[in-house]
Amino acid sequence: MDSFEFNKIAMSVLGTIFLVMGLDFVSDGLFHSEIPQGDAKGYAIEIAEAPASDAPAEDTGPAYEAITPLLASANPDAGETGFRKCAACHTYEEGGASRVGPNLYNIVNREIASMDGFGYSSALTEYGQGKQWTYEELNGFLWNPKKHIKGTSMGFAGLKKEQDRADLVAWLRTLSADPAPLPAEGESPAADAGEGTTETAIDTTGAGQTAN
Ligand code: HEC
Repeated sequence: MDSFEFNKIAMSVLGTIFLVMGLDFVSDGLFHSEIPQGDAKGYAIEIAEAPASDAPAEDTGPAYEAITPLLASANPDAGETGFRKCAACHTYEEGGASRVGPNLYNIVNREIASMDGFGYSSALTEYGQGKQWTYEELNGFLWNPKKHIKGTSMGFAGLKKEQDRADLVAWLRTLSADPAPLPAEGESPAADAGEGTTETAIDTTGAGQTAN
């Protein structure tokens, strides 16, 4: 082998060495990774926390307080005053005419949507199949009609204070020749609420809102 031949081989060997060293150096910079030490197994993978959703948390149950425990000590007189909010749309005397809403005489434990001749919404009619206006059913409806029964045509924003609802329902109860018994002290509202507390989706359309 002459020296020229040897030089060519030497150059290519050196070149390869430099190339490998160079690649190693470059790749080290590009793909630097910590080799896990000691007990650590594998590479730690950090999963970014899922971004908080903008959507409101799903309603999981009634957002209002039961009134059953308050009824015995509620103030029907205050409830009568509170009925002013309803009087634009409802009469309460026996045999009273229906206005925008049906007459409310004897409403406690009355079948839901059962006044002959009144044009109930299909939402209330369907919801009310086989159900009565128990204390807690009234409670949920008066808390927020459109949340309690999605699609109802009762355009009323609702009574947010449970004491107001308890007073009003305590007064509605007296609108009867034979008022329904008050719940026994300490009685669980769940027994009364029953299927009536089925939470409906939030109605954001405001359809049918006539007045508040
Ligand atoms: C702007 C008018 C309006 C106001 C104010 C209003 N309601 Fe109503 N109410 C209605 C209408 C309309 C219906 C029928 C709803 C349906 O068919 O979906 C109704 C239905 C009802 C029912 C169901 C009756 C049944 O026969 O099943 C009750 C109970 C009731 N209202 C109570 C009240 C009370 C108590 C208030 C006051 C806190 C009130 N409403 C305020 C219009 C009104």
